[in-house]
Amino acid sequence: MATFQTLPGFREFYPEDFARRNHIFRLWRQTANVFGFAEYDAPVLEPLELYKAKSGDEIEAQLFSFTDKGGREVALRPEMTPTVCRLVGARANALKRPIKWFSIAEFFRYERMQKGRGRCFSQFNADIFGEPGPEAEIELISLLIQCLCAFGLTDQDFYVRLSDRNLWFYYLEALGLDEARSRGILGAVDKLEKLGDDAFKDYEAAFGPMDPVLKAKVLALLEIKSLAALEQALGSIGSDKLTARLTDWRKLLGALDAMGLSPFVSVDLGVVRGLAYYTGFVFEAFDRKGELRALAGGGRYDDLVQKLGGPALPAVGFAIGDMTFALLLEQRGLMPAIVQAPDVYCVIGGEKERLAAFADIHALRAAGFRVDYPLRELAFGKQFKVAAETGAKLALIYGADEIAKGVVKIRDLTQRTEVEVPRGQAVASVRDFFTGA
Ligand code: HAM
Repeated sequence: MATFQTLPGFREFYPEDFARRNHIFRLWRQTANVFGFAEYDAPVLEPLELYKAKSGDEIEAQLFSFTDKGGREVALRPEMTPTVCRLVGARANALKRPIKWFSIAEFFRYERMQKGRGRCFSQFNADIFGEPGPEAEIELISLLIQCLCAFGLTDQDFYVRLSDRNLWFYYLEALGLDEARSRGILGAVDKLEKLGDDAFKDYEAAFGPMDPVLKAKVLALLEIKSLAALEQALGSIGSDKLTARLTDWRKLLGALDAMGLSPFVSVDLGVVRGLAYYTGFVFEAFDRKGELRALAGGGRYDDLVQKLGGPALPAVGFAIGDMTFALLLEQRGLMPAIVQAPDVYCVIGGEKERLAAFADIHALRAAGFRVDYPLRELAFGKQFKVAAETGAKLALIYGADEIAKGVVKIRDLTQRTEVEVPRGQAVASVRDFFTGA
């Protein structure tokens, strides 16, 4: 028999999977709310142009794109950043500052499938617009950390690698490199973990053999793991840009330290981020054991709003992906078993008793109790079995005897005790039971 399968890399959410996803989204949303971020959404399908040359070669090669019936070149969104820039850019003057926005949405990238990577995934995106200084990074990195800690993860489970494209550019400039060469070096640094020494091949192809002194200096910078070491290595170079930039670093790390978040953050200039639009601080979150792909990534992108037709507007943001994150929660035993048990299961005699039960069933539901009952007539014994299987706390019994007496029997399925209450008091009695009155 021919069966239709989901496309490779796409996901279905059966109710138990959906409940897990809801749990993750709920805590992310709650965390963004307490940080004062406002939620937005936008179309899943966008003009292809929005991503061309803006997101970078890697994402461009992974686009799900096609020509629609009106002859438009379109793409399923691979990320939110260009879209949110368009939204904010269009109303930049009217929006109250600071502009702190978040979204939880689905994205599509035609990627090679591997653990924690799919072709359709969800991201929590948070971005701040209009703030040029490290104050925005302070707010965002603390939000990122709290979005993970909200689930019970600690600094033993994950950390944020903090880097800075500006620092790289200022340093390479101080060493005498022009912008093209500096970009080449950053490209190599981006690939270094994956490719080792081969990472420098593209640079050498473009600019000739690499000066071993330069290479040693680049590799030495990658060894730096603390602000103190960074200050020692760069403070004495005598570049005003570097000196000013180190002040930003001190401000950012000092604030995160004051929040008690230092154990989560490590200085790591090996992170430069593949996306084309980043301009300053960049960061990525990883599991401590180093077993999973990145949990989250982000950084500053001060030019993108303007590149997409809006006003000049500095911006910083990050996205957490749901796939590696769910894997980490499972590995650490932090994904709760979500049981969706009803509060009340109604055990009902025949057709006549059913009508009496319906009045209470609807009133109970309207009062906010989760109520289930057999959609079809079932033997009493069978109904009690089902009631027990659902995990309901109470059974409300509507047999012919109860209806004749004008009562309903309430059975506590855990304690195995029973009381009879007048029919009109069913809702009040159930409420008393759950509030412990
Ligand atoms: P990104 O690093 O491409 O950044 O993605 C952020 C996170 O999304 C990754 O760390 C990963 O958890 C998840 N992710 C990305 N691709 C996949 C995939 N194929 N399957 C599963 N998960 C994936 C961005 O998207 C930027 N737009 C983030 C940003 C927001 N920058 C500024 N604001």
